[in-house]
Amino acid sequence: MSAQVIYLDHAATSWPKPPDVTAAMSAFLEKAGGNPGRAGHRLSIAAARIIYDTREALAELLGVGDPLRLIFTKNATEAINIVLQGCLRPGDRVVTTGMEHNAVMRPLTALAQQGVEVVVVPGAKDGRLPVDRLEAAITPGTRLVVAAHANNVTGTILPLAEVVAAVRRAGAELLVDAAQTAGSVPLHVDEMGIDYLAFSGHKGLLGPPGTGGLAIGRSVRTDALPPLLRGGTGSRSESLTQPEYLPDKYESGTPNGVGLAGLGAAVRYILKRGLAAIQAHEEELRRLLYNGLSASEGVTVYGNASSAGTAVVSFTIKGLQVSEVGERLDDDYGILCRVGLHCAPAVHRTIGTFPDGTIRFAPGPFITVEEIKRALEAVREVAGSA
Ligand code: ALA
Repeated sequence: MSAQVIYLDHAATSWPKPPDVTAAMSAFLEKAGGNPGRAGHRLSIAAARIIYDTREALAELLGVGDPLRLIFTKNATEAINIVLQGCLRPGDRVVTTGMEHNAVMRPLTALAQQGVEVVVVPGAKDGRLPVDRLEAAITPGTRLVVAAHANNVTGTILPLAEVVAAVRRAGAELLVDAAQTAGSVPLHVDEMGIDYLAFSGHKGLLGPPGTGGLAIGRSVRTDALPPLLRGGTGSRSESLTQPEYLPDKYESGTPNGVGLAGLGAAVRYILKRGLAAIQAHEEELRRLLYNGLSASEGVTVYGNASSAGTAVVSFTIKGLQVSEVGERLDDDYGILCRVGLHCAPAVHRTIGTFPDGTIRFAPGPFITVEEIKRALEAVREVAGSA
C-alpha cells in the first residue's frame, strides 16, 4: 500500500482544496455563524456579507453582470432540475444530446413519461457532438436545448457559440450543464448569450461539496420559471407566497453558509492564479495522459485528443476489468481514480463502453507533470501484467 496518493478523480470532486478554503469555512463557523438575511444582528449580517462576497466573486468568474442572477443550490443537479422541471410542460419539445450525465437524462426521462417530447441527438463514437445534427434538431417551436459544456467521460468540449446561434434562430432557450467546466474553462454567461448555466461548486471551482448553482442569463424572464422549492427566504416574511425577485425566488431555506464561505475562498484562489493558467496546466496534463496512454501496450483510449477538452481521459486495459484496474492502482500505487459508468450511461453507450465503462483519469490544478508520469508508469505495469 502506497502512503502517498495521486488524486486523479477531480471530475467527481476536487481534492485537495486551495489552502484558504478550510480557513474560510472555520472562520464562518467561529466568527459569522448567524443565519443570513434572517436577523439584523451582527452575526447574521456577517454571514450575509460572506455569502454575498461569494456571489460577487462567482459572478466575476462566470461573466454574470448582475450577481443576483446567480442562484445557489446544493449541486449542479439541483440547478438542472430547477430549469428542466420549471420550463418543460407536456407537449413541449426539448433537444438534448447523447453525451449527457444522468443529472440531465433522469429528469428528462421522467418528463418524457409526462408527455414532454425529448429529442436526443446522437454523439459520435469519439466523444464529439456533430453540431450540424444538433442544429437540425433544434427546429422552430423547440422550447429548450440542454447540453453538457463538456461530458464527464471523455472531457470533450461542445462548441457553445454554434449551439447558442442555433438556439437563438429557433427562439428556444439553452441550459448548459457546466458541471465539468466551471472553474476549468473560461465562461461568460452574458457575452456568450447563455440562458441558464448550471454549475457544481466542488469540482473545477475547488469549493466544498454541497455547493453549486444556477446562473440565469440577463434576457431570461423568470416569471415563467417556477421555483423547485418554496419556503422561508428571510424576505417578505408577511407573505404566504414566494417572492418573485432574485435570488430569493429560488433560494428557500437556510443556505449552506459554511460551504459558500469555502466556495468564495476557492473562487478567489482561481481569480488570483488565473483561469488561463489553470487551463493551460490542465491541458498539459491532458496531452501527457493522451499521448502516454495511447502509446501503452494493451491500452485503449477514448475521446479525441485533437478536439478541445477538459483534463478527463478515459481508457480500458485489454484483458482486465475496470474495477480490478481501479483497485490495483489504489492498493499498489496510491492512484485514486473513478472506474465504471461515471453516472453517464448515455455517454458510454455513445463511445461503445457500455455496460462495463472505463477507467477515468481526471487530474486537477495541483497535480504535477511528475505525478502524471508516475501514473502512466503504473498503468504500463498493470497492463503488462494482464
Ligand atoms: N458526475 C461526477 C463524476 O463524473 C460525480 O464523477
